[in-house]
Amino acid sequence: MKPIGVLASGRGSNLQALIDAAAANALGGRIAVVVSNVESAPALDRARRAGIPAVFRDHRGRKREEFDQELVGILRGQGVELVCLAGYLRILSPGFIQAFPGRILNVHPSLLPAFPGLEAQRQAWEHGVKVSGATVHLVDQGLDSGPIVMQETVPVLDADTPETLARRILEAEHRIYPRAVRLLLEGRLRIEGRRVLVEAW
Ligand code: GRF
Repeated sequence: MKPIGVLASGRGSNLQALIDAAAANALGGRIAVVVSNVESAPALDRARRAGIPAVFRDHRGRKREEFDQELVGILRGQGVELVCLAGYLRILSPGFIQAFPGRILNVHPSLLPAFPGLEAQRQAWEHGVKVSGATVHLVDQGLDSGPIVMQETVPVLDADTPETLARRILEAEHRIYPRAVRLLLEGRLRIEGRRVLVEAW
């Protein structure tokens, strides 16, 4: 089973979706370590409950590149082959991204490239789009800008608030994130420029 490292700063519901998929043998890998920059992050409790090593590192007062290299060391120490960002609220340094080329995934609560950045669900609601959704993408140096692996659409209803929309988008995130992880770990993704293609089996 290929080792996965998860970085999370908060609630950790996407981490939970990955944990549950792994338990159901549907992830194509095992979560070897969860790292958080927030000591009180519920994500760390979710990891501990699942028997996964949970590591806290405080980024405050540290230089980004130096802090990130410590994380690289922790992940490499567990033999991590894929890094999954799951609500990790920090920009990764170039050194971190280069340490795992093509091997960092993120989940984002909009149909990228629309509404990158924070509060994407509220951005979409305020803009008045009729369809939004969730995206899993490879991480590059930009903000939510890497090649798109998988998306699921979610309708925006007249009765929606940013909160109800966010809840439905989150359900889509939980469906597509484990599937994207599995495709990558099974070696089924082929990248042509910005396009990520899925090899048929
Ligand atoms: C999710 O909406 C994810 O798309 C975004 O941050 C949120 C994390 O939620 N990147 P959780 O911590 O996985 O519950």
